Amino acid sequence: MKKPIYGCMGLGGSWTRDPLSTEEQKKGETIIEAVLENGITHFDHADIYALGKAEEVFGNFLKQHASLREKLFIQSKTGIELHAGVFNSSRYNLSHDYVLNQVDSILKRLSTDYIDALLLHRPDPLTSMEELAETLHLLKKSGKVNSFGVSNMSVSQIIRLQKYLNEPLISNQIKLSLDHSILIDLEVWVNREESPKEAGLSDLLNYSNQHNLSIQAYSPLAQGKFSLAAKMTENHRKTAELINSLAEKYQTTQTALLLAWLWKIPANIQPIIGTTNLQRIQDSAKAGQIDLSREDWYDLWISSKGKILP
Ligand SMILES: NC(=O)c1ccc[n+]([C@@H]2O[C@H](COP(=O)([O-])OP(=O)(O)OC[C@H]3O[C@@H](n4cnc5c(N)ncnc54)[C@H](OP(=O)(O)O)[C@@H]3O)[C@@H](O)[C@H]2O)c1
Repeated sequence: MKKPIYGCMGLGGSWTRDPLSTEEQKKGETIIEAVLENGITHFDHADIYALGKAEEVFGNFLKQHASLREKLFIQSKTGIELHAGVFNSSRYNLSHDYVLNQVDSILKRLSTDYIDALLLHRPDPLTSMEELAETLHLLKKSGKVNSFGVSNMSVSQIIRLQKYLNEPLISNQIKLSLDHSILIDLEVWVNREESPKEAGLSDLLNYSNQHNLSIQAYSPLAQGKFSLAAKMTENHRKTAELINSLAEKYQTTQTALLLAWLWKIPANIQPIIGTTNLQRIQDSAKAGQIDLSREDWYDLWISSKGKILP
């Protein structure tokens, strides 16, 4: 059965330089245990999550369960530098020395000798793709990283990087959900006044299918926008009603239905859930069982768009 990836952005506590607390470590361990008990073995990290504390929580857990390492797929991301360590102050950095140093720090925090994949968190206009590819070759040769992916990159950027790499990139991590479906909208709103801005996603679905590049969908649960009154627009509210009635029909939950909506699309989409709620983790792990009908899939899409299809 299909399982989502678990995104570790919510582990480790505050995005400050405060050290990791025992309480956050314990909280994190309970979450990781629940994720594993539900059969999810693919974990997504980034060097910036809780300023490294998310990886630290995971690494401390791994130290106590060393035999687990080979059963897990652990990926991390680098390339975003928080200016002066402050949240919302991003600069991008994919330069040779920066990436090599970051990978060493990632491995140390995660308490592992290697990661299964390194993703480039965002493109950096000041690093040439040639320089970047050389850095990745070195990381592969050293045995520290087994494979590479990107995040928030356009097809043309992927093609530029791929030109210098002698192995295929395996994934592109982008925001994708029923609430944020530009990638799918682009498939049908062709040559229309109201066509969505391509937002760098033009041809990504096609490219991914042709090159076995998985689309790792972040924020697949729309960060709770279909549940949390404070985050809801009128359209979210109407769509939430539909989601809830379909959840009843399929004898499932809103959480699972949102993932099933993504998996219905015939592409290699891997949702990365970020919920820290144990019930929602359990619900997510069961989403692969749902066989959403074509009618229900379209009803959800049209409702979330708030307009008819062209
Ligand atoms: N590459 C990138 O640029 C990028 C950007 C963002 C994220 N990511 C990755 O993707 C992962 C997932 O992203 P995400 O956390 O935005 O995804 P998400 O799973 O859509 O959102 C999780 C957040 O939404 C809340 N939420 C979800 N369903 C809810 C519900 N029914 N009711 C109330 N609250 C609900 C969760 O709260 P609870 O914890 O209380 O459930 C949590 O705060 C991250 O962990 C990270 O690994 C990557």
